[in-house]
Amino acid sequence: MKVTVIGGGPGGLYFSILLKKAMPDCNVAVYERNKADDSFGFGVVFSDETLSEFLSRDPESYDLIRTKFAYWDELDVARDGEVVRISGNGFCGCSRKTLLQLLQQRCREEGVELNFEANVGDLSQFSDSDIIVAADGINSSMRDKFASDFGTNIQLQSNRFVWLGSTRPLDSFTYFFRTTPFGTFVAHSYQYEKGMSTWIFETTDETWHKAGFSTTDEQDTIQKLSEIFKEELDGHGLISNRSHWRQFPTITNKTWHKDNIVLLGDAKATAHYSIGSGTKLAMECAIALADSVIKYQTDTKAVFDNYEKLRRNRVEMIQHAANVSREWFEHMDRHIQHDFMAFAFSVMTRSKKVTLENLALRDPSFTKKVVAGFNQIGTTTSPAFTPFTLREMTVDNRIVMSPMEQYSAQDAVVTDWHLMHYGSRATNGIGLILTEATAISPTGRITLGCPGIWSKDQVIAWKRITEFIHANSTSKIGLQIGHSGRKGAVQLPWQSSNTPIENAWPLLSASPLPFNSKMGIPKEMTLEDMDMITSQFEKATKNAHDAGFDMIELQAHHGFLLASFLSPLTNIRTDEFGGSIKNRLKFPIRVFKAMRGVFPQEKPMSVRISASDWAENGITDNDVLNIAEAFKQAGADIINVSTGLTVENQKPHVGRMWQTPFSDMVRNTVHIPTITAGYIQDIDQINTILLNGRADLVALGKTLLLDPAFVRNAQAYEQYNAQNLDSLGIPKPYTSAVSHLYPYIGGQRKAMEGMKKALKPVTHKK
Ligand SMILES: Cc1cc2nc3c(=O)[nH]c(=O)nc-3n(C[C@H](O)[C@H](O)[C@H](O)COP(=O)(O)OP(=O)(O)OC[C@H]3O[C@@H](n4cnc5c(N)ncnc54)[C@H](O)[C@@H]3O)c2cc1C
Ligand SMILES: Cc1cc2nc3c(=O)[nH]c(=O)nc-3n(C[C@H](O)[C@H](O)[C@H](O)COP(=O)(O)O)c2cc1C
Repeated sequence: MKVTVIGGGPGGLYFSILLKKAMPDCNVAVYERNKADDSFGFGVVFSDETLSEFLSRDPESYDLIRTKFAYWDELDVARDGEVVRISGNGFCGCSRKTLLQLLQQRCREEGVELNFEANVGDLSQFSDSDIIVAADGINSSMRDKFASDFGTNIQLQSNRFVWLGSTRPLDSFTYFFRTTPFGTFVAHSYQYEKGMSTWIFETTDETWHKAGFSTTDEQDTIQKLSEIFKEELDGHGLISNRSHWRQFPTITNKTWHKDNIVLLGDAKATAHYSIGSGTKLAMECAIALADSVIKYQTDTKAVFDNYEKLRRNRVEMIQHAANVSREWFEHMDRHIQHDFMAFAFSVMTRSKKVTLENLALRDPSFTKKVVAGFNQIGTTTSPAFTPFTLREMTVDNRIVMSPMEQYSAQDAVVTDWHLMHYGSRATNGIGLILTEATAISPTGRITLGCPGIWSKDQVIAWKRITEFIHANSTSKIGLQIGHSGRKGAVQLPWQSSNTPIENAWPLLSASPLPFNSKMGIPKEMTLEDMDMITSQFEKATKNAHDAGFDMIELQAHHGFLLASFLSPLTNIRTDEFGGSIKNRLKFPIRVFKAMRGVFPQEKPMSVRISASDWAENGITDNDVLNIAEAFKQAGADIINVSTGLTVENQKPHVGRMWQTPFSDMVRNTVHIPTITAGYIQDIDQINTILLNGRADLVALGKTLLLDPAFVRNAQAYEQYNAQNLDSLGIPKPYTSAVSHLYPYIGGQRKAMEGMKKALKPVTHKK
């Protein structure tokens, strides 16, 4: 069998070693355009986990790497002179040049044919090869040649970065942040051998331009960065090696092979350097490709299918985490405003893979300081169980029941179902309930099962619920008030999704655009319609107060009536209510002000918005910030930041805690409290979001539907106020259950933590 490898980087070389070792009769040849001892770049990073994998695959190269690497357990976050050290992060750094030489040595020992200064331009010379591995790096010409077959997508990211070296010794992996009049810079830095460290400097495109950098002038770059990081470099200089400012390309390929050519390493997929080097990814994929060739040999289809099966999910997961981490660095200027400990926590949890609990297992002294900083009074109370005040309403804890339609009202009046539904979450300790969308008029309902707040009967029925909650729990309850707009008059979701009812009522919207082809064309609202709707919202607000609600939330999201004014996809008006975001805001703000005017001053008001339409030409970040600012100026106390559901053809990126970046943007740019929701499932995620400063309150939707006792279980998990059970607000008939629940859940947590500790990768420290 003959295998040709184009590119003698870590991916190509490691693959060749593993293959030749397992199949000595196979002819494996590497073609590398550089000389054997050319190398660009400085150090590479491997985690304990990756090192364990190397040990199991090729102990010889593992031993060689280990003789040369610098190992560290600590990670430092430093900002303008302040530093905090977080331990328990086992990593090693190794020189890229040394790594390549060690791998070349191993190739020679196994009998791999190495060809240097052999630039491959044309594949015809390899027509007798069974497999051609394109391991020719980020700018792979092999991939580019067949880009449409591979389905290549290359996205150049906005931040600028440059790779430099220094003789400055470092005893930990360190993120040095520096604020300048132009914006924030960061250096990702680590020592990789005695007397040598890597420094990757990064900043936003805007700051880079303002600071006057240029792509090609290496001397100017070094001089400017040396000045900014003068203290951090501590008298040591910066060293360049083809060190040009670049923008990171995120590369994906729909398929990783064509005919007998297969992609490996950076040629196939890149992962932003902020969560570990591409070198690790390239070498891990080399292992999977070698395994596949060993197993299926000349059956190339089976080889390539197996390779993708082994690696695609993993690579995509790493790329996703890398993207989330990259985005964090794109918004450094926003995060830098947090207090130092909260900022350091945010650095550590930026990829959303690491949470408060993971960090507490690694370094409890660090997380204790972060939690004490959050609570400001130095207690260790779980952030979720700290109170929060809006005007004169104080909630006991930060966990909110997200608004969720029950589609179970009778003639728009709430029933026993609602009493049970809301009552059970309240008696189970939820901090705040936000009710389902409740309509201002019969034609403002989404379905015939939606409740209203326009009539006396409705007020009386809601009052029964608020009175029950106030009498039997410490929870607060807010009413979400809205009008369905062009999304109204549809069947119940379990009957048919977004399908009109028979005899659907006439719809209203900002513009005459139907939500989908099944639904009616809404009437473009006139000034008279606006007057009518405004007074209906005003009346509904007074009714909400009469019904005993502690707060109200205005529905200006998910494509309903007010949201239809805000998004350019649903508002194509040419009058003063369309066009610029200022104009699109006019009617929603008029409604809000009318409501604020009649709602008691001591009671808070929230507005729920969609911070993205997840569709082309939809609402922009700038629009969202303008919207939040306008509601803040009009007296909103908190913004509930949701996304989407504006148009039917949306493509949301759903995943764990997926809407928190939008809440983060609003909270930390407009400086107004926020609520976030979306795939949040446990108390650890809630605490992590709060400590990160991504939101002030965390709302749970589906999580609470089948688990009304979520908060009680979470309190037991955190052993919250175990010594002071009276403070938990548990209804008297239920208090005796605490003696069972707390030890049981506490024991489960201890067992789980024990398992996690046992599964921690072994240390490879010398
Ligand atoms: C200039 C540079 C500096 C870097 N510095 C660092 C660093 O300091 N630390 C770190 O962790 N990561 C660094 N990286 C990134 C990291 O090296 C990659 O993620 C990792 O090396 C991927 O391994 P690979 O084998 O897929 O590709 P590469 O390491 O890029 O190897 C590809 C090889 O293919 C060769 N090649 C390309 N085209 C041809 C051709 N037509 N014919 C023959 N040979 C060809 C190239 O010369 C290169 O040696 C650097 C990357 C580059 C490009
Ligand atoms: C059955 C159901 C009904 C919903 N009804 C509403 C609603 O009336 N008003 C609203 O703002 N959001 C509504 N939502 C959205 C939720 O409030 C929440 O934002 C969403 O479900 C994401 O959170 P989750 O992943 O925790 O469920 C509803 C969600 C569900 C599942």
